[in-house]
Amino acid sequence: MNSDSARSEDAITELILTAKAKAYEETDHEPEPNLTTAVDWPVECSVGPGLEGAIACESKIGYVNGSKGWLIYRGYDIFDLCARSSFEEVSYLLLHGALPTADELAAFRTALYARLFIPETQRLLLSFPVQDMNPMAALRLGTNLMRQKQTYRDRRELDAFGAPIASDEDSIAMETVPHGERRPVYEFAPGAADRGPSPEPSTLVASEEIASCYNLIAGVSSVAATIGRVRAGRLPLEPIPELGLAGNYLYMLTGRRPSPMEERVMDVCLILHADHGMNASTFASMVVASTLSDIYLAIGSGISALAGPLHGGANVEVIKTLDEIGSADRVVDWYKKASENKRKIMGFGHRVYKAYDPRARILGPLAELLASQSETVRPLYETAAALEREVVSTLGAEKKIFPNVDFYSGLVYQSMGIPAELYTTIFAVSRVSGWCARVVEYLENNRIFRPRAIYTGSFGENYVPVEDR
Ligand code: SDX
Repeated sequence: MNSDSARSEDAITELILTAKAKAYEETDHEPEPNLTTAVDWPVECSVGPGLEGAIACESKIGYVNGSKGWLIYRGYDIFDLCARSSFEEVSYLLLHGALPTADELAAFRTALYARLFIPETQRLLLSFPVQDMNPMAALRLGTNLMRQKQTYRDRRELDAFGAPIASDEDSIAMETVPHGERRPVYEFAPGAADRGPSPEPSTLVASEEIASCYNLIAGVSSVAATIGRVRAGRLPLEPIPELGLAGNYLYMLTGRRPSPMEERVMDVCLILHADHGMNASTFASMVVASTLSDIYLAIGSGISALAGPLHGGANVEVIKTLDEIGSADRVVDWYKKASENKRKIMGFGHRVYKAYDPRARILGPLAELLASQSETVRPLYETAAALEREVVSTLGAEKKIFPNVDFYSGLVYQSMGIPAELYTTIFAVSRVSGWCARVVEYLENNRIFRPRAIYTGSFGENYVPVEDR
């Protein structure tokens, strides 16, 4: 690594440690006793709409202290992990409960690298209109195609009979009786028709779920890069051995080997987004897994929930907001009108944080550093910084509404030349580690999620036949 990139990497570590010092200056780090002491179930808690305040389970994976703006993974402070660790180390930590030894980390990196190769899934993905699809819908599709390729072991037998007829517009087999025939005639590969669809794989057992977690942590990254590549009108790429997961995401997306600085920035972003308590997408994954559906389908539900603009989709909406405002000197007027219309400002507010999101404490200065090196991103950053000042000085004071993880992440990705529509897929590339870790942990003492609803409907209605209504 040349001295320039070493210096720029040190600059990032320095930036993170400065953000940590500022956070520790502004807030203490006392855990909330009611949320960090093991309980005897059932537990009393006051629950609001949207399960606000509900305690769903116990976990050792991660802790968010909303009133202090503090985030830890398995006891490690997010600032320390961003300054010193890697996304691979953090994924191992979340999934296995301890930082890996050098040998364990090397083996994990090798296992993930091998699982970045999913050419069959990439080829299957190419047979869909990915370039026209919502990127998160395409990511969910890619996860299902991975499931097909990675759990249907006997697929290869079926394919051994040669691919069934190409189902393009003209030759899709229809239920018609060709002239002179007494019954419909299908031209399938010999032996395929009487074989029927592949049997569902047996329920994934614990060991397989860990193997499937590795498949998903690597595969979701390859699928996300493939989606970005195809949307750019290019063909998918395979990973290269000397890069980690963050670097290979960038390489497989752009076709260009990332600089050490770019790889470090992406790695920090993946660490920051990896886990965050019982957020909507993690909860969605756990709900699906709690029915003993398999881990691929559970992760697909996490991807679906993350896509929403109130959740992971906010990072794309923030860029649209900054474009709409246009420049820093227009922020005050724009914000006045937005406030009058009671408009939700994307990238601000949080169900749990009533203090500054620690992730924004890192992403903000990171965006500033990168924007200072980019003519196109600098004005956007200046608009964002002006908007932050407006919101924090009003909603921050009145309602404890501060920037969240989504406010600056898009600017970081934009400075790396990544198109805005891909930002939420990057969130998923990271969060798949947290989703998998939480699912595997919950399944150890599984109990299907089944909350109640207050019924406020009527009783005693008499049935009136439709003709008399
Ligand atoms: C993520 O849960 C997680 O951990 C999520 C996440 C993770 O890592 O998984 O941290 C990632 O999803 C971050 C959030 C990204 N979403 C956005 O940036 C969208 C904008 N934010 C809001 O929609 C909102 O803040 C939520 C959805 C994030 C949280 O909403 P809540 O907890 O349901 O709060 P609310 O909608 O009930 O608002 C409470 C009050 C309301 O005012 P009043 O009606 O009481 O007068 O705060 C106001 C809201 O109008 N408010 C906002 C606001 N967010 C809340 N006002 C303006 N702009 C906002 N962004």
